[in-house]
Amino acid sequence: MAIERTLSILKPDATRRNLTGKINAKFEEAGLRIVAQKRLHLSEAQAGAFYAEHKARPFYKDLVSFMTSGPVVAQVLEGEGAIARNREIMGASNPASAAAGTIRKEFAESIEANCGHGSDGTEAAAREVSFFFAGTEIVG
Ligand code: PPS
Repeated sequence: MAIERTLSILKPDATRRNLTGKINAKFEEAGLRIVAQKRLHLSEAQAGAFYAEHKARPFYKDLVSFMTSGPVVAQVLEGEGAIARNREIMGASNPASAAAGTIRKEFAESIEANCGHGSDGTEAAAREVSFFFAGTEIVG
């Protein structure tokens, strides 16, 4: 399988509960490498632009409001099949449906406060990584 890079965001519910280290340990134990990472507080404009594809969805406003409610940690994960692997490790968006052992099953509070975001495909990964990081900030 090819070595890929994907964007991960640890959401405000994860930073609020001081779960950054525990979640990062899950990624590293699963063989993904954190090759870039920064903590930031998204503005409404940034969060709105990042989630632009969901603009027509009923939860868009709540999602933007939640993502700006506290700091997030944006990171680039690298590894074999990293895009799908990251989503497997996180589990389903709704923690009620997430598989045992996944980050969301263990830590998420709701479909909104669900600890993390992971790019859902190759094109999204390239776009989302470059949304947060310059090439020089990613060190594999
Ligand atoms: S889809 O249809 O597969 O795109 O939807 P999904 O991946 O499940 O959800 C997209 C993102 O929207 C968030 N979400 C919500 N936020 C707030 N309230 C509600 N009801 C809600 N439903 C979905 C969900 O956590 C996803 O966030 P990301 O950051 O993309 O994982």
